Amino acid sequence: MRILQVSAELFPLLKTGGLADIAGALPLALMAAGQDARVLLPGFPAIVAGVRDLAPVADFNAPWGERFSLRAGHIAIDGAPAIRAYVIDAPALYDRPGNPYEDTARQPYADNHRRFALLGWAAAQLAQGLDPAWRPEVVHAHDWHAALAPAYIAFAREAGGPRVGSVFTVHNLAYQGIFAPWNFTDLGLPGPAFHMNGLEYHGQVSFMKAGLYFADRLTTVSPTYALEIQTPEQGCGLDGLLRQRSGALTGILNAVDDKVWNPASDAALVQGYHTPEGRHMAGKARCKAVLQHQLGLAERPDAPLFVLVSRLTEQKGLHLVLGGIDALLAQGGQLALLGSGEAWLEEAFRQRAAAAPESVNVTIGYNETLAHQLFGGGDVTLVPSLFEPCGLTQMYGLKYGCLPLVRRVGGLADTVVDSTLEDLASGEATGFVFDRFDAHDYERALRRAFALYQRAPDWRRVRGNAMRRPADWATAAAQYIDVYQQASAPA
Ligand code: ADP
Ligand code: GLC
Repeated sequence: MRILQVSAELFPLLKTGGLADIAGALPLALMAAGQDARVLLPGFPAIVAGVRDLAPVADFNAPWGERFSLRAGHIAIDGAPAIRAYVIDAPALYDRPGNPYEDTARQPYADNHRRFALLGWAAAQLAQGLDPAWRPEVVHAHDWHAALAPAYIAFAREAGGPRVGSVFTVHNLAYQGIFAPWNFTDLGLPGPAFHMNGLEYHGQVSFMKAGLYFADRLTTVSPTYALEIQTPEQGCGLDGLLRQRSGALTGILNAVDDKVWNPASDAALVQGYHTPEGRHMAGKARCKAVLQHQLGLAERPDAPLFVLVSRLTEQKGLHLVLGGIDALLAQGGQLALLGSGEAWLEEAFRQRAAAAPESVNVTIGYNETLAHQLFGGGDVTLVPSLFEPCGLTQMYGLKYGCLPLVRRVGGLADTVVDSTLEDLASGEATGFVFDRFDAHDYERALRRAFALYQRAPDWRRVRGNAMRRPADWATAAAQYIDVYQQASAPA
């Protein structure tokens, strides 16, 4: 099948979070399954620099009249097959400082509705034959940035255009792309689209709602999150619509790209390791020693090292981690954090590190290599999220034998099994799971991690279970292919 994936980020060219990891891995997994998958990306400088042999495909008009061009090339990542990529050439919109969505002062760009409408618009142009050499049968749009694509495709179809299927994936319902109503005229959608049965949301324009309303099929990134977003508590105001569309919604658990995240072959680690039966783990001890040294932590092999790699936002439950630092240190643990985000959280963690540099290390910023080294050298990965659509760091923690300590929510609930006595006995335990989003439950889970750490043979067994947990892309790709088939079948 010819599949066009549309996203704002793609690892390794441009990444602010897990979306990029998925957008980078899914096309390769689809190609490995025999599909003809291509990607469409906005021409951010890092994307333009990373796509090879860019050549013009065609020019097109944006709905507000400006003329842009589409180029195509390929993304070649060490040894992996090349991914064919379309890039929207629009430096006036995309060549800016800051991250893809916000300026250097962390404010959303005032014309974000145009910057991302253009992404969905270009996808719909491709669906209608903008590239005479290749027309997708299915357009797969990710998150609000690409969410107008299904709306444009639906209206083009109504106007007699070709039938192209559309799939919309929610990676995070909390980010919706909401804009003032007067921006609607820029979008090139017919008036009736600005309606409760459309993309109108409490008088505003909602890109997320456009995706949810107009796509033929919906997916989200874990089965549990697929249920949670249909409830008022986690539906971010869209649970009613999600319940209405529940027949079209599937939860497909994210997977792990083995070429990027594999402790046996990870170039960021001083020594690789793997575990057929809990053996060949010397490399992990070496990774831990080197990491402690590098971060200025006390070089104590016996001190359980807790790591955290995260955006520093409310979603991630970081006040629990902050509040739990004393308990963690009192039990002889160490903490190493890598992250960036809200200023008050950055500052609070910095202060904790300054007060106890031999036990707490905090790196503010974005550092892919250090992220790998933290999972490689760490004993426990902390992910105590308030909500978590899927979560990738707990999956990297599993793979690297850095046991996840997570809250039972969203994809965390679907990927980690608590070390209860019965699950230890059955060989299913892979980490530590707590229920209530409060200090009491979080700190009990911490105590469980320390208690297990004292029992070395049990720790090794759980670590082996965690490292062997399957997280391959082939399974997820097969589920997406099913969804694509449903989306492209005649109504
Ligand atoms: P989210 O997408 O909500 O941020 P995920 O757990 O799905 O959460 O994905 C986060 C991704 O971003 C992971 O690949 C993680 O390793 C990476 N990451 C987050 N913060 C940093 C950072 N400061 N430096 C390097 N990688 C980071
Ligand atoms: C989002 C979610 C995260 C998920 C990622 C990739 O950013 O917050 O839970 O793992 O997307 O799907």
